[in-house]
Amino acid sequence: MRLEKEKFYRILAPRTTVLISTVDKDGNANAAPFSFVMPVSSNPPLVAFASAPRRDTLANIRETKEFVLNVPSEDVLERLWICSEKFPKGISEIEQASLTEMKSSIVSVPRIEESIGWLECVFEFEKEAGDHVIVVGRIKDVEVKDIFMKDGNLDIPKARPVLHVTGETFSFAERMRIIK
Ligand SMILES: Cc1cc2nc3c(=O)[nH]c(=O)nc-3n(C[C@H](O)[C@H](O)[C@H](O)COP(=O)(O)O)c2cc1C
Repeated sequence: MRLEKEKFYRILAPRTTVLISTVDKDGNANAAPFSFVMPVSSNPPLVAFASAPRRDTLANIRETKEFVLNVPSEDVLERLWICSEKFPKGISEIEQASLTEMKSSIVSVPRIEESIGWLECVFEFEKEAGDHVIVVGRIKDVEVKDIFMKDGNLDIPKARPVLHVTGETFSFAERMRIIK
């Protein structure tokens, strides 16, 4: 079957979904899920995500130049969904979704405790791209909960990262396969 060109990302699926936490200039915390996310460089360590122009996440990053990519697991799927709802700027989705703020090690933006791991980032640059803005961040600290690591890799069946298919549909990987 052919798909509309505008829906091309439906076959670039599933995509790792993160909860991006930010603060505005008055220190109000915010969190929202993003699945247009990609690593772009390992040295220096850079990560990118694409934001629609009117997201509070983008406005906060422009104001305070920091963000955290929290990697959620299936356990928090319903709460992640609450974070995708539109709350007025200044209202913390972290609180609304009964998630827990946790101090970051380098940036002033809080981490979300109920996560598999965290990438603490400082804003590097942004680039308008079609109907989204690509935001690139430099990773200042990376941490993952020990129980979710196995032989240096994320233990996917145990960690159960949230993989976005599209809209309200998500996927969870049951197994890993090593080629050798
Ligand atoms: C699973 C999932 C993935 C999403 N991915 C993106 C994305 O990559 N880019 C984007 O701009 N919005 C994305 N959204 C929508 C935002 O999360 C949503 O508009 C949210 O309210 C934005 O919050 P904010 O205004 O506080 O930043 C996604 C929503 C969900 C549920």
